[in-house]
Amino acid sequence: MASEKVCTVLSRLAERVPQAPLYIAGAVSLSVVTCLLFRSRPPRRTQAIAISKEKVLVLGATSGVGRVIAQQYALRGAYVCVVGRREDKLNEVVQECVELAARNGFEGRGLGVRADISDVNDMIRVRETVEKAWSGLDTVIVAAGVSTLQPLMAVTGVEMSTPDIVGSQASPEGIQHAVNAAQAAVNANYLGSLVAAVTFIPLLTYTSSSPSILLLSSAAAVIPPPTRSIYASTKCASLMLYQALQIEHPSIKFTFFFPGTIEGDFRASAVDNPPGWTTPPKIHEDDPNKNGLKREVVARRCIRAIDRGERNVYIPRHYRVAHVLYWFWPAFIEWKTSVKYNFR
Ligand SMILES: NC(=O)c1ccc[n+]([C@@H]2O[C@H](COP(=O)([O-])OP(=O)(O)OC[C@H]3O[C@@H](n4cnc5c(N)ncnc54)[C@H](OP(=O)(O)O)[C@@H]3O)[C@@H](O)[C@H]2O)c1
Repeated sequence: MASEKVCTVLSRLAERVPQAPLYIAGAVSLSVVTCLLFRSRPPRRTQAIAISKEKVLVLGATSGVGRVIAQQYALRGAYVCVVGRREDKLNEVVQECVELAARNGFEGRGLGVRADISDVNDMIRVRETVEKAWSGLDTVIVAAGVSTLQPLMAVTGVEMSTPDIVGSQASPEGIQHAVNAAQAAVNANYLGSLVAAVTFIPLLTYTSSSPSILLLSSAAAVIPPPTRSIYASTKCASLMLYQALQIEHPSIKFTFFFPGTIEGDFRASAVDNPPGWTTPPKIHEDDPNKNGLKREVVARRCIRAIDRGERNVYIPRHYRVAHVLYWFWPAFIEWKTSVKYNFR
C-alpha cells in the first residue's frame, strides 16, 4: 500500500514537473556523496599525538612481532620501552631501537626493562621506569604470550592415535602435568594481560591526550583450533577481559588484533610438552616459516590500527568471515581447522 502511494505521488509529480525524476536523482546522489565525504570518522590519532612524541610500551618485545613493532615505532621517532624476560635479547632490541631512531635524528628514545609480565613487582618497576623517563605513556601493546601445541589428552600422557585415544586413562601425574601446562599458559597469556591492564590504565588515562591499548590476541581466541585448546582458551580469556575493560574505560581506545599463523619461533615457547618427552613432540601444523604471515606485515598493520583507532582487526582479512561463519555453520569451520592443524 505504502509503495503504491509513493508511486502515485511520484508519477503525479512527474506529470506536473517533467524534470522531477532528474531532480530527485540529483538530490539523492548529492546526499550520498555528502554523507561519504563528511561521515563522522574518528580523527586520526596522529593528529592528537605527534608521531615523534608518542610514548609506546611494548610488552613482549624480545622477539617476534613485538620486537618488530618496537623497531617500527623507533624508526618513526617514537619513544619506545621494550619488555621481556631474556636479558640478552632485550639489550639487542634496545640497541636496535636506539640506532633506528638515530637514523632519523631522534636521540635517546630506547628504554628496556627485563620483566615478567605476570609479576606484579616487575610491572611496577616498568611503570616507575617509564614515569621517571617520560612522565607518562600513550600506547601499550600487549604482545607477550606463550604457545601450547598438543591435544589436551596427549598433555596428560595418554597415548593418542589422532583423533582417537588408544592408551589408558590419565594418571594423577598426567592430570597434574596438564594443570601445570595450563597454569603456565594462564600466567603469560591471561594474568600477564590482567597485570598489564591494572598497572598501566591509570597512567595512560591521566597522562595521554589519546590513550591506546592494543591486545595482540589470536584468531584462535575466536575460532576454536584442535591441538591448541589451552592456548586458545587463555587467549580467549584475555580477549574477554580487555573487551569488558573497554566498556569500563571509554576514554581509552582498545584494539583487538586477531592474526592467523605468523612466521617465527613462537612454537618454541610451548609450555605443554608431554610428560617425560625425549624427542620433540609432533607439531600438528605446516611450517609457519613457510606459510605464516610476515612479522613486518603484522607489525605494520598493528601500528596502522592504533593510528586509526580501529577496534577489531583480522589478518588475513577473511578470518573475520570465518569468525561469523562459525556461528552459522560450525561444522564447516571445524572441518577447516582440523585440516589446518592436521588433526583428522
Ligand atoms: N606466532 C603465531 O603464529 C601467532 C599467531 C597469532 C597470535 N600470536 C600472538 O602474538 C604474540 C607474539 O607472538 P610471536 O609470534 O611474536 O612469538 P614470540 O616470538 O615467541 O614472542 C613472544 C614474546 O613474548 C614474550 N613473553 C612471553 N612470556 C612472557 C612473560 N611472562 N613476560 C614477559 N614477556 C613474555 C617473549 O619474551 P621472553 O621470552 O624474553 O620473555 C617474546 O618477546 C603472542 O601473544 C601470540 O599469542 C602469535
